[in-house]
Amino acid sequence: MRGLFITFEGPEGAGKTTIIQKLAEEMIQSGADVIVTREPGGIHISEQIRQVILNPKNTAMDARTESLLYAAARRQHLVEKVVPALNKGSIVLCDRFIDSSLAYQGYARGLGIDEVLAINRFAIQDLMPDQTIYFDIDPEVGLKRIEEHQGREVNRLDLEKIEFHYKVRKGYHALLDIFSDRIVVVDASQNIETVYSKTKAIVAGLVKRQDSVKKNN
Ligand code: TYD
Repeated sequence: MRGLFITFEGPEGAGKTTIIQKLAEEMIQSGADVIVTREPGGIHISEQIRQVILNPKNTAMDARTESLLYAAARRQHLVEKVVPALNKGSIVLCDRFIDSSLAYQGYARGLGIDEVLAINRFAIQDLMPDQTIYFDIDPEVGLKRIEEHQGREVNRLDLEKIEFHYKVRKGYHALLDIFSDRIVVVDASQNIETVYSKTKAIVAGLVKRQDSVKKNN
């Protein structure tokens, strides 16, 4: 019996972390078996890799190195945390996954979506999410939200120029075409309650579908 693997994507300041936390709390309260995790990180080895990738002092980091480090962190997180949870039948809510690499490194850094997909295929061995929810927002609005949000650490990618963040968004839009069956869009410029209720409805639909598949097996 396999669980449900749902990933959340979007540019900086889209509000996905807040939404995921709230969603998980509600689902757990209603008795669902849910785990929340994030990339890069989620387990000890990958959190260590995260420190290297996101350290604002690492300005010398080459784009391919960055891409390989994200893929390495992803691999370890997947085998150590995500796969065991899915095998147990849990619902895994993951803050960022492969599409972040395709949008940030593949498109915005200019390495090419196909090239970054290739190294990620090696890392994940076909374990794609069942569904990806993409929070779409104008980068300028998103970055402003981060500025206003006290306590959020500023990382190396936040320090990129605004043009980079516009490219990230364009990258995500390209992914919407390539993976139209898997990725669903939520307009994250709306107020947080609306974004939350839309997200909740999508996840509820997925859980319901999964339950009926399980019943019929
Ligand atoms: P984080 O502080 O988790 O940002 P956020 O709250 O926006 O998710 O930092 C993760 C950063 O790493 C973020 O700028 C996006 C970037 N990233 C990539 O460039 N490629 C990737 O594969 C992943 C997972 C993240």
